[in-house]
Amino acid sequence: MCTSSICVQCMFRCGVVCIHKQLPKLDLNITNKCNYSCVHCAFDSGVQIRDELSLDELDKILSDTKELGGERIDITGGEPTLRDDYHYVIMHAKEMGYNVELVTNASRLTRTSIDDLFHEGLDQVAISLDGSSPAIYNSIRRKDVQMFHHVKDMISYAARSDLRTKVNTVAFSINLNDIPRISQWCVDEGVDEHGIYFFTPIGRGNQHADLVTDPKKYLSVMREQVMPFGKWIKLSVEAPFLEENHGLGCIVHEDPYHLQILPDGLVYPCAILASYNLPIGNLRKESIKDIWLDEKRWDVYWNSLQPIFQKTGSCVALEGHGLFPVCPLRKFGGLQ
Ligand SMILES: C[S@@+](CC[C@H](N)C(=O)[O-])C[C@H]1O[C@@H](n2cnc3c(N)ncnc32)[C@H](O)[C@@H]1O
Ligand code: SF4
Repeated sequence: MCTSSICVQCMFRCGVVCIHKQLPKLDLNITNKCNYSCVHCAFDSGVQIRDELSLDELDKILSDTKELGGERIDITGGEPTLRDDYHYVIMHAKEMGYNVELVTNASRLTRTSIDDLFHEGLDQVAISLDGSSPAIYNSIRRKDVQMFHHVKDMISYAARSDLRTKVNTVAFSINLNDIPRISQWCVDEGVDEHGIYFFTPIGRGNQHADLVTDPKKYLSVMREQVMPFGKWIKLSVEAPFLEENHGLGCIVHEDPYHLQILPDGLVYPCAILASYNLPIGNLRKESIKDIWLDEKRWDVYWNSLQPIFQKTGSCVALEGHGLFPVCPLRKFGGLQ
């Protein structure tokens, strides 16, 4: 029996969207504009694309996704705070009952805007911090010392406020050994969660593949120096490869639960497949329900990925390390 409270037409003609066909989460890239030019940016963000999804179009996506069982929206980019109407996107998502996260570089946040975001209903702010010193932060984020201190100040302020606060850190060869210091600082400041992500050399990051860290060293630093902080802070440590095959395969094939929406309306199962420029649909031509519930389309899409998997063994090449690739979206499943 279906446990969903949402009843819409489904392609199985059962009259309801069953639990296995729900779409719990969207990553909504509301703009590609950015005031940073980070070395690793998966979306090569910077210049705004001319024809971004309007607030009305975003509202339609949110309401359609709600009918598919949507629960969580991550508002991201580019830098989402560069869109004048980003507060409305948050408020509208909240009014529809979503759990809403804003993912930001924090450059444009102020203490007042953090208070406003909390009162507008934002559930969580996720702020990027890739170094514990200006030198490391700026080698990745290409900003100045003042911005480094501003970002830390915003994290500290958000952590002291009632807003749930997460720090996002991407792991590179040049900051791997610094990450335990960032975790320690997060604990000291009362941050709720520290998320650590393996640098995937896609988008602009493709030009900086030398910054990919040795995956075995990464696993060992995470296990030995970062996981102990789990006594004091929630940790979300991405492990897109593990020593044993845990069978945590690509989400396109196994229980998809997420879509990545780009500012031009193109839809991808995840950020990595966006970097391959392989959209599964276009919201300017069809609805998110048309895309999500079209089982045949997902089969055809899965088949189209096979040449990539055959070439690299995974969506991201990771040869010569004797590790098993794991879908990054199943990232927290197997690290022990
Ligand atoms: C694309 S950014 C958008 C939000 C905001 N501009 C920021 O930097 O936080 C979202 C997150 O993705 C991370 N990210 C970007 N490119 C990445 C890559 N190639 N590999 C892993 N994480 C990446 C960023 O560091 C950031 O934490
Ligand atoms: S990672 Fe974020 S801040 Fe950096 S260039 Fe990309 S969108 Fe901008």
